[in-house]
Amino acid sequence: MSFLWGVSATAYQMEGAIAEDGKSPSVWDTFVHEPGRVIDETTGDVAADHYHRYGEDVALMAELGVDVYSLSVAWTRVQPDGTGPANPAGIGFYDRLVDALLAQGISPFVTLYHWDLPQSLEDRGGWLSRDTAYRYADYAALVADTLGDRVGMWVTLNEPFVHTVFGYGLGMHAPGKMLLFEALPAAHHQLLGHGLAVAALRQRSRAPITITNHYSPIRVVGERDEDRAAAAFYDALHNRVCTDPLFGRGYPDGFDLPVRDGDLETIAAPLDAIGVDYYMPTGVSAPGDGDGLLPFDLVELPGYEQTDFGWPVDPDGLREVLMRLHREYAMPMYVMESGCAYADHPDDQRRIDYHAAHIGAVRAAQAQGADVRGYFVWTLVDNFEWAEGFTKRFGLVHLDPDTLVRTPKRSFHWYREQISNNRSVR
Ligand code: FCB
Repeated sequence: MSFLWGVSATAYQMEGAIAEDGKSPSVWDTFVHEPGRVIDETTGDVAADHYHRYGEDVALMAELGVDVYSLSVAWTRVQPDGTGPANPAGIGFYDRLVDALLAQGISPFVTLYHWDLPQSLEDRGGWLSRDTAYRYADYAALVADTLGDRVGMWVTLNEPFVHTVFGYGLGMHAPGKMLLFEALPAAHHQLLGHGLAVAALRQRSRAPITITNHYSPIRVVGERDEDRAAAAFYDALHNRVCTDPLFGRGYPDGFDLPVRDGDLETIAAPLDAIGVDYYMPTGVSAPGDGDGLLPFDLVELPGYEQTDFGWPVDPDGLREVLMRLHREYAMPMYVMESGCAYADHPDDQRRIDYHAAHIGAVRAAQAQGADVRGYFVWTLVDNFEWAEGFTKRFGLVHLDPDTLVRTPKRSFHWYREQISNNRSVR
């Protein structure tokens, strides 16, 4: 089994063209136009204009020599109302993109849902409503009917934990709800949708299926029993709630979700791999004298270099995550996203160091027995970084958001060499 090199990106962050060919608004289209939601008051209305410039981006990927492009499909292009038949003009974009990738020998890994719920479904309760799980499975079936013969891997959901907590719990992402623990049904309904979608995909496509979660090694900050208990609770929330049920273990103790008969069996439908997004470890201690709303405090970890996001750089945390998943679930794994925000351009040596060290961590995990099958850099081209707008740059390629001109950074050339050197020893 050869190791796959790739780059990842998503529909809302890359495509722009938010009202073309019948596309309707998603929760992100709504959210970014509300004052104060995005740090620099920018939007993804144009983003990197990938919808019109995908040919240029595919050419960049071909130059890079990647095996995989991990992309996401915008539900609102395929089903503008969130229900009903497929919109041929909308899904036609992905049809062309997939063919353009295959023509260059690049395998499309297709994420069906990366946070951009149709606004029409949000208006009916969004992921807090159980019905959204069924709507999502119908949508997945429509995508599979069109692309199912050419997709390299299906990824049902991206980071349901982050979507639940940031979108419904803390209001930092769309749809901007601040429900704290009342947000948890959104996680269950996403996972239910995942399980229903797996069944729909298996009927229509022979491509393997995975789901991507955000994983973070939890570091206890403090010496007290309360600190350890807070860290254990946070670990269950971040690393287990959206993973344990996939493997037939139900939800961790202490998490009360609206499970109905049969749901856990649906969610535990067999998968072909686990998708791993890794960025950083998380420091946790017992709650201080705050508002008492959360049973933990997330605290800065001293002693780490930080990216422009303030995220601590800890490559060994990736090895740790991979080894833990290997021990607990014994599945093939793909690092679906790994990356760092640095404004440096064109000489982004820090990005090169970051990826070299994280690829090293993957190698270390493999040497310890983990079945890791791919490493995908987040991301190809600087793009719209959610609530951070264009202030955080993760790309191997620089984007000027005004002219949309793409200019490879030094890390682009480094990654190309990394891939080709690796190929020559295969
Ligand atoms: C991940 C998201 C991705 C991107 C990176 C930086 O959590 O999945 O879309 O924003 O963070």
